[in-house]
Amino acid sequence: MRPRTIFAASIVALALAAGASAAAPRISVWDGVYTDAQAERGHTLYMQNCSRCHGANLWGTYEIPPLVGRLMPYYSGSTLDSLFDYVSTAMPLDRPGALGPSANADIVAFLLKSNEIPSGSTELSADRVKAIDFESARPSSGHSRK
Ligand code: HEC
Repeated sequence: MRPRTIFAASIVALALAAGASAAAPRISVWDGVYTDAQAERGHTLYMQNCSRCHGANLWGTYEIPPLVGRLMPYYSGSTLDSLFDYVSTAMPLDRPGALGPSANADIVAFLLKSNEIPSGSTELSADRVKAIDFESARPSSGHSRK
């Protein structure tokens, strides 16, 4: 590597280390983080694995929490991995962790869609969830930073 290249590379590394969250815009659930086709697959998986308890309309029951409405404020302020990890490790309640990462990503996509969060052109994958901010309100301009 020539010195100039090394210099440029270290600037990039410094910028990444020091200011990643300030400089690079964060991705939020409102940025189109799943596709419609994926949510469709998630719907099928939901009907097979979750609807028995949470209901076909996601409203839950007296004992079982709904997956629409209060789900959003409940997870707001975290990153999408908190919902993803919960679903992946604690659900379905009768056989926790039974579904693999891609099935769980599809189901989370379906849950986002059901909560009226818009789809986009990139599929949600398990390795992306940690980088996605979960905010219950659509940011009015750019991203709200707390
Ligand atoms: C056998 C019944 C049952 C099945 C099947 C089931 N759940 Fe649940 N789920 C529950 C119960 C009960 C709770 C509440 C657990 C608690 O509070 O400890 C819950 C909690 C949740 C929560 C947390 C919601 C909140 O507001 O706290 C999510 C998200 C969730 N389930 C998603 C799913 C998904 C996705 C599936 C399918 C992959 C699924 N569940 C399958 C019974 C079930």
